[in-house]
Amino acid sequence: MTVSAPHLAAQAGTGAARRRILVTSALPYANGQIHLGHLVEFIQTDVWVRAMRMHGHEVYYVGADDTHGTPIMLSAEKEGITPKQLIERVWREHTRDLGNFLISFDNYYTTDSEENKTLCETIYGKLEQAGFIDAREIEQAYDPVKEMFLPDRFIKGECPKCGAKDQYGDSCEVCGSTYQPTDLVNPYSAISGATPVRRKSTHYFFRLSDTRCENFLREWVSKLAQPEATNKMREWLGEAGEAKLGDWDISRDAPYFGFEIPGAPGKYFYVWLDAPVGYYASFKNLAAKRGLDFEEWIKPGTGTEQYHFIGKDILYFHTLFWPAMLEFAGYRTPTNVFAHGFLTVDGAKMSKSRGTFITANSYIETGLNPEWLRYYFAAKLNATMEDLDLNLDDFLARVNSDVVGKYVNIASRAAGFLIKRFDGRVQDSAMHHPLLATLRAAIPQIAAHFEAREYSRAVRQTMESADAVNAYVDAAKPWDQAKDPANAALLHETVSVSLEAFRLLSIALKPVLPALAAKVEAFLGVAPLTWADAGTPLSSAQPINAYQHLMTRIDAKQIEALVAANRGSLQAAETGAAAAAADAASKTKQKAAAPAAEAQSETISIDDFAKIDLRVALIVDCKAVEGSDKLLQLTLEVGEEKTRNVFSGIKSAYRPEDLVGKLTVMVANLAPRKMKFGMSEGMVLAASSANEKAEPGLYILEPHSGAKPGMRVR
Ligand code: MSP
Ligand code: ZN
Repeated sequence: MTVSAPHLAAQAGTGAARRRILVTSALPYANGQIHLGHLVEFIQTDVWVRAMRMHGHEVYYVGADDTHGTPIMLSAEKEGITPKQLIERVWREHTRDLGNFLISFDNYYTTDSEENKTLCETIYGKLEQAGFIDAREIEQAYDPVKEMFLPDRFIKGECPKCGAKDQYGDSCEVCGSTYQPTDLVNPYSAISGATPVRRKSTHYFFRLSDTRCENFLREWVSKLAQPEATNKMREWLGEAGEAKLGDWDISRDAPYFGFEIPGAPGKYFYVWLDAPVGYYASFKNLAAKRGLDFEEWIKPGTGTEQYHFIGKDILYFHTLFWPAMLEFAGYRTPTNVFAHGFLTVDGAKMSKSRGTFITANSYIETGLNPEWLRYYFAAKLNATMEDLDLNLDDFLARVNSDVVGKYVNIASRAAGFLIKRFDGRVQDSAMHHPLLATLRAAIPQIAAHFEAREYSRAVRQTMESADAVNAYVDAAKPWDQAKDPANAALLHETVSVSLEAFRLLSIALKPVLPALAAKVEAFLGVAPLTWADAGTPLSSAQPINAYQHLMTRIDAKQIEALVAANRGSLQAAETGAAAAAADAASKTKQKAAAPAAEAQSETISIDDFAKIDLRVALIVDCKAVEGSDKLLQLTLEVGEEKTRNVFSGIKSAYRPEDLVGKLTVMVANLAPRKMKFGMSEGMVLAASSANEKAEPGLYILEPHSGAKPGMRVR
């Protein structure tokens, strides 16, 4: 914090008591990459955390990877490594990605830790003592080949209503009916293909139906900040006396990657029990490193605050199970839970085939600036659970016009004059300019919008301030003032007001653009900016430093490259079964809020395969696509009247002239896709390694000689 110097209307942040705040983001599963959907949440949380830190509060932001459960166990097995090896590698990838996007965790840990094990055992022990744990025998589907119980989503079969094949155990994609996995006709294990058998086993339940729980939750729900969340909770709780809450099955049988339940050999804590405890485990680990009193933070009534940022799909776990677990284990409960909506890209669910399932790493590798995305998300986020859309054209337009056009330009226009003409020193009297008073008065309001998670308002108000500054500069015309030495004092005022205004705007944007703010602090020669610094203007005593370039504009080519890098058009995963499985897995997740499974390569029926119309195609023409370093444009003859136009991401592997006259295989009934460069009317098949980094190379398919264009491949 800056001290000394004259203070002007320093309303922001000072005087209020220093709050003690623990903040979390949901723990991403350790079997997938961080993608833009996750980043909505990490950025939302990080902006809030940074805004709270700028008040001088004591804030701890912790996270971890969610490492346990069946899907992770199976992913590791598929890769031929142990779960520990898998989660270690993913942890490194996740921490790299989060660091790249400037997510300022105080600790990023793992749920597979000693701290978590101990905490889970302690909490479970207390719940058991208080009479909240029941053991019951239940009957479940069991895979006799794989020798494991099958989670519902690993059972498929024929729809009991319409007979459609290969439907998941909860609902039919063809007729839309819902049912129980036991209702499936000819069920089979999605893991081994074996017919599941019914088998009994003892499970442990958390007695959520206990009236103590219900009474507590009815009371607790009234604390929630979001009306939509409260309504959901009321729905789940039902009317008093309706006894709507069912008990929660918290155990799973071996083989399971997780923590074994004390005194129950072969029984493991269900991943959703140990995951939220993982918040505390991460904080406990941090507390040990920082010398904080962990117990003080988790016991009730000490005045510390605890907030969980989550997506709307996992509300249930955070507003029912988690607070109930904490309450009846004798701990404090969350101060609040903040849920956000889901990310769509260009108006649709993120899609691998469209290239809009964008990973954090591809964004960075393509050379895009993470603060562009932080800005865009902030400009769109509010305190509701509404979904939010990343429109790629709007992304480019908005970042370029707001951040670069409106904000950064103020500094680049003023800095040169101040340095060349005035030794880099501002005119102190200019700091009282009415425009600055208005801007200063807006700062506490902007800070309040951040705290209320109304980031779009904070950003809008900041950009309105920037508009006012630009209007001021345009009216004063420093470039004209500079022409006449008699106007030196006026010019000095103009550029001084501009730069002080720029400093104030930088305070407002700092939670969103922390790296840019650090550059600004260096450029202005000031200490790290806080809200309270709104009242400490620039001073002639401290000259500014040479202007360093602050931020470039987004180039449309970069966005094209990003989409191309994420387009899985050549990946086997995009054809047929695997894509369907991945889709269904993500569908299941949204519906049941169960852990997302990595796409499994499952058995498909011959009918499934027959849906894909594969044809032998003659490459009659092939050329590079201007403006794309990934794509080639192919003209294909497939025995139809007209040739097909297909864009294919194989430029890295082939020279266009080498492909002309060759035969290959294409998917002829793939829905045409409008791409930046034109319509793509199909897809050619190519082989590549699952790990393209380690084993690069792309090989298009070529039929044996004799095959004719248009022949069906079956
Ligand atoms: N492991 C659980 C959370 C355990 S917390 C004790 C989980 N993991 S997740 O990787 O599937 O999701 C992590 C967070 O990212 C969740 O809050 C989820 O809502 C959020 N998102 C995942 N995909 C998302 C979008 N497409 N859009 C916005 N948020 C999304 O759930
Ligand atoms: Zn059906």
